[in-house]
Amino acid sequence: MNNNEFVNQNIKPLNTKINSKGNLEISGCDLVELAQEFKTPLYVMDKNTLLKMAQDYKKAFSPYPKTKMLFASKALMTGAIAKILNEVGFGFDVVSIGEIYTLLNAGISLNNTSFNGNNKSIEELEFALDNNIDHISVDNFYELKILNKIAKDKNKIQRIHLRITPGIECHTHEYIQTGQLDSKFGFDLSMMDEAITLILNEYKNLNLVGLHAHIGSQIFETKVYDDEAKIVLEEIKRIKDKFNIELSEINLGGGLGITYTKEDNPPSVYEIAQVLINSINSNCERLNLEKPVLYIEPGRSLVCSAGVSLYTIGSEKNIEGIRKYIAVDGGMADNPRPSMYQAQYCAEIANAKKENKPEIVTVAGKFCESGDILIKDIELNSPKSGDILCVYDTGAYCYSMSSNYNRVLKSAMVLIENGKGKLIVKRQTLEQLVQNDVI
Ligand code: LLP
Repeated sequence: MNNNEFVNQNIKPLNTKINSKGNLEISGCDLVELAQEFKTPLYVMDKNTLLKMAQDYKKAFSPYPKTKMLFASKALMTGAIAKILNEVGFGFDVVSIGEIYTLLNAGISLNNTSFNGNNKSIEELEFALDNNIDHISVDNFYELKILNKIAKDKNKIQRIHLRITPGIECHTHEYIQTGQLDSKFGFDLSMMDEAITLILNEYKNLNLVGLHAHIGSQIFETKVYDDEAKIVLEEIKRIKDKFNIELSEINLGGGLGITYTKEDNPPSVYEIAQVLINSINSNCERLNLEKPVLYIEPGRSLVCSAGVSLYTIGSEKNIEGIRKYIAVDGGMADNPRPSMYQAQYCAEIANAKKENKPEIVTVAGKFCESGDILIKDIELNSPKSGDILCVYDTGAYCYSMSSNYNRVLKSAMVLIENGKGKLIVKRQTLEQLVQNDVI
């Protein structure tokens, strides 16, 4: 499963192997011991794998020195993860006051942070400006108006990008397409003249410096990135010719896919970087534009492969001739992706097994819905109650999308560093679960 040099092309984190006890280990840390110490369900992040992907991003984009990397923190926002990425030079794409607050709480300033979203509240925008956010990616006319007023009241000139809908359709799950024309996000190109006229003539507290686009998530194609850069740069050229201003920044979003199962074939970050850089260089030359600052904002590809989830197997139900279900102690509350997007995952039994008896089973969660199935028809080595199941590639959009459905407590998260597991998110307690109830 792991024979690729590039993190996002592997199913497992780097340095995943069976140790001398016969248990699965990651970077020298025994997963069964982690499950015993921190209980299950447990999110586990491997720092080595995370740092390798972060370094690959930096190396891949190094031929374009004007690149700024932002982590799309919606994929996984915790103070510890933010701190690690901040230390290696990443800024952040945030979409809520909660994400901003988490950064500030971890001691991270907003001087390399972009605030996205199609319906930011006045409170959120005020909080962002009070904390000197680098720029806001403005999504619509309403936001232009309220943001200008907020900036004016605070006596500030706020740097902004305009989020545009470039009209590119990606062949990915329909719920996570954001670049197509019928999208709730951003200005259609036909709205741009009106937006820019308003900014130049009326909204004097906004300083338009760039354009922002994002074309989807879990993308396997490279050509779409070439098209995206071309469309954004052609729009910059059009704006230059019409309004006599040359925008100096572009943000081309995130979206690079990862390998959840062996059917997935994402390009490496080096391939994506090359396509984007070539496209920017050739289009700038063709259109006679200065090379802009390039922002990219990967989420999934940066963190997903570094994460696994550990569960304990409990009950089973065997429907003779039809299907055998094994149930784990988590499910759709800690990983809603299979039930929301029919997402597929690979998994293995993490504890040593005496015999080798592969069996096809369906891994069910513990939540009160028939749709709470984590993995359909997977081959596991004689799964039995008490076994620890390791589900791969849960580093992105699992913890960040988790819920308290069925009043189940949110799971803890551990970071593997120097061969040891260190708690980075505590397990929720029953007291915390009811602390906001007013009776
Ligand atoms: N930038 C913007 C403006 C975005 O909307 C997103 C993701 C990203 C960057 C990061 O995209 P990534 O590199 O992670 O593909 N919950 C879904 C994914 C939703 C993605 C939303 N936007 C899932 O679990 O598959």
